[in-house]
Amino acid sequence: MGIGDAPRETWATRAGFILAAVGSAVGLGNIWRFPFQVGQEGGAAFLLIYLLFIVLVGFPAILVEFVVGRRTERNPVGALKEIAGGVWSYVGWVFIATGFVILSYYSVVAGWTIRYAILGLQDGYLADAAESEGQFVDLASGLEAIALHAVFMAIVIAIVALGIQRGIELAVKVMVPAIVLITAGMAVYAFTLEGASEAYSYYLSPEFGTIAAEWTSILPAAAGQAFFTLSLGMGVMITYASYLGEDRNLAEDGVIIIGFDTAIAFVTGLIVFPILFTAGVDPADPGAGAIFVSLAAAFGDLTLGWLVGFVFFATVAIAALSSAISLMEVVVAYVIDERGVDRAPAALVVGGGMFLLGVPSATDLVLLDLFDLFADQILLVLGGLLLMIIVGWLLADVAIDELSRGIGDLGSLGRAWIWAVRLPVIVVLIVALTLGILEYYDFLTGPFADWIGETF
Ligand code: PHE
Repeated sequence: MGIGDAPRETWATRAGFILAAVGSAVGLGNIWRFPFQVGQEGGAAFLLIYLLFIVLVGFPAILVEFVVGRRTERNPVGALKEIAGGVWSYVGWVFIATGFVILSYYSVVAGWTIRYAILGLQDGYLADAAESEGQFVDLASGLEAIALHAVFMAIVIAIVALGIQRGIELAVKVMVPAIVLITAGMAVYAFTLEGASEAYSYYLSPEFGTIAAEWTSILPAAAGQAFFTLSLGMGVMITYASYLGEDRNLAEDGVIIIGFDTAIAFVTGLIVFPILFTAGVDPADPGAGAIFVSLAAAFGDLTLGWLVGFVFFATVAIAALSSAISLMEVVVAYVIDERGVDRAPAALVVGGGMFLLGVPSATDLVLLDLFDLFADQILLVLGGLLLMIIVGWLLADVAIDELSRGIGDLGSLGRAWIWAVRLPVIVVLIVALTLGILEYYDFLTGPFADWIGETF
């Protein structure tokens, strides 16, 4: 129980928890970030390493967050205070900060997806790549972007304010099945396109030479993507697991959640690449805006492209929404548990703060990068790393005990899990953090310094 006197909320059903976690995991990371990472990092070679990291790093790590949440029935700050105490309590703050920063700009990008869905209805996709690029630059920053950022944030606030069962659980029970069905339908459509076979071979047959030549950039990108796509490193899975009223088999739930998330990312590749290849657009175009620019250009080129584009971007917006509510819930749970504030005002204040912090990202793409790189490559990895150290090295017995509740005797599998956390997971995170810091330094001294010079 929190400071207030109402009993803590719980999920109404097992499906509710699983769908909420899947809804969190499946988001812009799957549909927007994943294809552009595949494109940037050499196609199938990246896909292979990514799948490896999902199993080797993602699975052990998601179980860590689950056991911490279920054990303590707390938000990340409360959870770490209770389970680790001392200086380790501050790690919870890293999670709260990460969630706060990420949602601030995630909502801006989600606003773009709404704008691009509307463009379809207006028959507004431009087949010419340069024009499509200009259109993106116009839409991505400015008043309209701020307005859509506000609209999106308002929807997130409304759902979170309604609570776990009546808000989040109900919303994901509609959204997640819709995402799965539409994605499957679009993959079938993409299969009929003329560029499909060329796209499949680009996407599905890895060249081992590429891996050997590019591993220093493929490995951290794949590790970061595995973490991001499973919503790890910012306390989402701690928070969601803290609403589990009963003991369930967390390993089984983890497999289901990861299975869905991976399937949706994989299938998105089967949609995006045939569309790009059919329209003759290069999938290797780098950058965050690329998928908007190149897909919109492809939609401008295809028969009935406006309709396909509308359905595609609307699905992305829904997926972003089911992820955004999980991010807001992390911070809101903290305010409710630790500060004794009621849910509705908590959601309003937190969402309002996130909106304001996001405004700069909606005015200039460089500022969006400034927030995105910092949160995604540094904060998120740092929080994840510290949690893995705490649980893997300091609290192994507690963690194994907690995981066994709902499963029974784990035998040597419990130890195997802890060793997976202690070595591969932690090593991968240390490498990713180091590279992330270097990359951020390059960004600050490069594009960001240039921007400062031009602006002031
Ligand atoms: N997993 C989400 C995605 O793939 C992103 C996310 C990260 C959502 C962290 C919540 C928390 O888009």
